[in-house]
Amino acid sequence: MTGIDLRDISHAFGNTQVLDRVSLSVRPGELVCLLGPSGCGKTTLLRLAAGLEELQEGVISIGGRSVAHGGKGPGLPPERRGVGLMFQDFALFPHLNVRENIGFGTDTRDPARQAWIDAALLQMGLADTAGMYPHTLSGGQQQRVALLRALAPAPSVLLLDEPFSGLDVGRRAQVRADTLRLVKNSGVATLMVTHDPEEAMFMADRIHIMNAGRIVQGGSPTELYFEPADAFVTEFFGPVNRFHGAVSGGAVETPLGRFTVSGFADDTPVDVLIRVEGLRVAGYADAPEGEPDDNAGRQPASVTLEVETARPLGRSSYVVFKLAGGGRAIGRIPGMFLPATGERLEIAVNPRQAHVFSHHT
Ligand SMILES: Nc1ncnc2c1ncn2[C@@H]1O[C@H](COP(=O)(O)OP(=O)(O)OP(=O)(O)O)[C@@H](O)[C@H]1O
Ligand SMILES: [Mg+2]
Repeated sequence: MTGIDLRDISHAFGNTQVLDRVSLSVRPGELVCLLGPSGCGKTTLLRLAAGLEELQEGVISIGGRSVAHGGKGPGLPPERRGVGLMFQDFALFPHLNVRENIGFGTDTRDPARQAWIDAALLQMGLADTAGMYPHTLSGGQQQRVALLRALAPAPSVLLLDEPFSGLDVGRRAQVRADTLRLVKNSGVATLMVTHDPEEAMFMADRIHIMNAGRIVQGGSPTELYFEPADAFVTEFFGPVNRFHGAVSGGAVETPLGRFTVSGFADDTPVDVLIRVEGLRVAGYADAPEGEPDDNAGRQPASVTLEVETARPLGRSSYVVFKLAGGGRAIGRIPGMFLPATGERLEIAVNPRQAHVFSHHT
């Protein structure tokens, strides 16, 4: 297999275990995201893959050949691994212009590579900046230059660590889309680190969720969103309403309705996590597009709730409902939906957006 393969990687700094038997691989042309909270070991894994940190345990192969073996010395040096890198705190060479920055690691006598650089400059909207120096570029332009510099030597593996951090929302979306097109066209195996779930879902063919040095779950964006393995993964993809209950007759009762559960014996204590975007207001809108409605044959949970407040967010509205007993439930309703305080609404939860896990105390 080509691309990159990380097998049973463990790593400690002093007495602190930072990675615990992490395994993953990225095929050529594939983009895999590592998603996890701050400090979970994402950058460390990337540094090990690049050869910037000596491997303690496990095996790293690139293009089917082992480049580092835990406990057997430093392995192949970074510059011989065929890896392109772009880190959180990338720095362009201040004394080189854009074209020189990008061409730095390439053979200037290779016309094919130089033609690639010209085409890439054009594709990334940088053609007009080719002769400019880094300090005269915007943050977004610098980010694109750094990305092209990593790709220019035609690496077989691209490692990106939070490549879009520091960009404002609008520019981020544009740079992400351009980057995705560029890496997909180049056929490189890309491993990208982020802690933004929306970014991971947008970019990735597959996502690996990390927590405290371990991979908790891997899968396609839709698998992870609709079939999270545990409460941690569920909440990583966005806010939820969390209820505690006990299984009775193959279902669990919550203030947002009754949900059928499978695989739990009666009386098992469970947590029910319902995504805020899983609440639907009866008669207001149909299921959002692309979200298969698997209610077929099942009675959707439906309850009547009183609105406490409703706030506009732009593309959606944030509605707080009062629950009997003093609790609250949050709904994120598409569009401008701003019911008055005290209004009573019928709420049906999309059962695909309700996740039940055994309760851990
Ligand atoms: N050189 C080092 N020496 C000692 N501890 C380190 C070193 N590098 C990282 N660590 C520790 O290892 C853990 C994982 O760090 P790492 O940078 O891999 O996390 P991360 O997932 O990239 O986090 P972030 O999202 O904040 O960038 C942290 O607790 C960090 O403090
Ligand atoms: Mg990091």
